[in-house]
Parts: sequence; C-alpha cells; structure tokens
Amino acid sequence: MDSNETRIKIAVQKSGRLTDHSMDLLVRCGLRYSRGRDQLICYGENMPIDVLLVRDDDIPGLVQEDVCDLGIVGGNIIEESRLNIEETSKTEIFKKLVSLDYGHCRLSFGIPDGDDFLGSESLEGKRIATSYPAIVKAYLKENEINASVIQFSGAVEIAPSLGRADIICDLVSSGATMKAHNLYEAKTILESTATLIQTPSILVDSKTDWINRLLQRIKGVLQAKESKYIMLHAPRDALQEIRRLLPGSEAPTIIPLEGRQDKVAVHAVCRENVFWGTLEDLKDAGASSMLVLPVEKMLA
Ligand code: PRP
Ligand code: ZN
Repeated sequence: MDSNETRIKIAVQKSGRLTDHSMDLLVRCGLRYSRGRDQLICYGENMPIDVLLVRDDDIPGLVQEDVCDLGIVGGNIIEESRLNIEETSKTEIFKKLVSLDYGHCRLSFGIPDGDDFLGSESLEGKRIATSYPAIVKAYLKENEINASVIQFSGAVEIAPSLGRADIICDLVSSGATMKAHNLYEAKTILESTATLIQTPSILVDSKTDWINRLLQRIKGVLQAKESKYIMLHAPRDALQEIRRLLPGSEAPTIIPLEGRQDKVAVHAVCRENVFWGTLEDLKDAGASSMLVLPVEKMLA
C-alpha cells in the first residue's frame, strides 16, 4: 500500500479565523508535526495524519472528492456546498462528524442604517449581495420571497454603498464589519461553528480506526475544556446542599478529614465551567478551602 492509502489527510484553513484553533485542537489530540518546505503540508510525526492547509471554501470539495479524508471548516461553508452538491448530483454527501467549540459566527441580513426591516417581507423585490447564494436562495424559496441574489466573492459589505445591492447577507462575528459600513444586522438565517467533516468514500480499516481514535480524543479535548476539578471542605450537614450547587457533577468523592467529625473533603469533576458566583454560593452554603483546577485530558 502506498502512503496515500494509509495516511489520513485533513484539510484545514490556510490562514483565517479557524487556522490556529484547528491546529491547536490537533496538537491537543496528541499530533506532533513538521511543516513541509512549501508550508502547505504538515506531516504528522507520531500519527499517520497529515494536514493540508488550503482555502476554506475549497475544503468541502476536497473532502467530497476524497482528495482529503477529513476537513475542518465552518458550518456556513459546509451548508453552502451541501446545497450546491445536492443540486448538481445525487451522490452521497460528506458526513459531519462533530461540531467544535470555536469559529462561532452567523449568517445574517444586513440592512443600511435608516432603512426599515419589518420581517422577511422587507426582502421582497430587493437585490441581495452575498457570498452564500445557495443558502440565501434556499431561505428565500422557503419563505416564498421574490428577490434577486447577487453573488460576491468577498467585500460583500460594500455592495450597498456601491449601489450594487439594497441588502447584504454575510457572516457576522463581532458585528464590527457591518457597523463600520453603516449596516445593521436585521435577521440571522444560519448559526455556524467549525465542524469536522469526513469523505463519503469508503476508507480502509486502518484509516477508519485512526479516525475513530481521533474523534474520541477530540471529544475528550472538548469535554476537558469545559470541565473543572473542584476540591473543597464541607460541613457534613451541608453536604446535600453543596452537592446540589456543584455544576454538572455526577458522583463526587467524599473524603474524611483527619481529626474532624463535622467536616469532609469533597472532590468532584464539574462538566461545566465553575464561575465565581458558584464559589460564592458554595461558601454561603458552608464550603471552605475551595480550589478549582483545569482538567487537561478526559477519556470515558
Ligand atoms: C467575515 C465577513 C465579514 C467579517 C465579519 O469574513 O465576510 O467581513 O467576517 O466579522 P465581524 O462581525 O467580527 O466584523 P471572514 O473573516 O470570514 O473572511 P472571508 O469571508 O474572506 O473568508
Ligand atoms: Zn473564506
């Protein structure tokens, strides 16, 4: 077998909002890599996994065509490309494996300041500029709105001031871009996060095994990020209330304290973040000597 058949190729955005998070996630999953001379391929040194750095819009296509086995890309690009593939062919489409906890953004209509938006009807008869024509057309169709969709490959936000469109439909994250162009966000039609996708093609067992391992590690990383290990001292008679206050913990470990009959130590994994407010509530309930620690790895 040549290496094409045994090594997993993952497509990741070359430079943009998902790049650093995606590489960081793979490193947290245990991947050590070295960069190829052209900087566009990262060769895995301790796992049979290589990363291809490409334009984000190309990722679903590369995964669909089985050039890459996996890809990490935003839900917005996934949806646009899913609609396009569905329209042009009846083939099986790439699979979404897991959505990740970064790259949050949304696809929204932006209206020039001063123009009213009274609901979807306000789109009727308008010219809408977007880089996501398939998603916008599907939305218009579903809501029985007649409007023209004008495709832009970038800088959509300048379309209204150029007189090329009345409204835009574009990605919003902080909202700064729309604001800077005197547009306001009127309606969201899609929420998006970074997502891991897999080719629809059948893979050899060795690849499937590694993909399953990677998937389990990714889930472990995601869980660990949200989890905290908490240790505290609690009066025995407040235990019930204190357990109730611990966010998302199943069975805490209760340890006797040397020489104390009235108090115990409680250790628990909280599967949610532990905020200051929670610690204050725990203190009010009688807890003391509280410590909250990050969790690095988790495997159920
Ligand atoms: C999107 C979008 C806006 C900007 C919005 O572009 O097209 O330009 O982000 O973000 P904000 O609400 O935080 O200002 P992106 O960075 O995804 O680049 P691309 O469309 O060229 O891939
Ligand atoms: Zn892009």
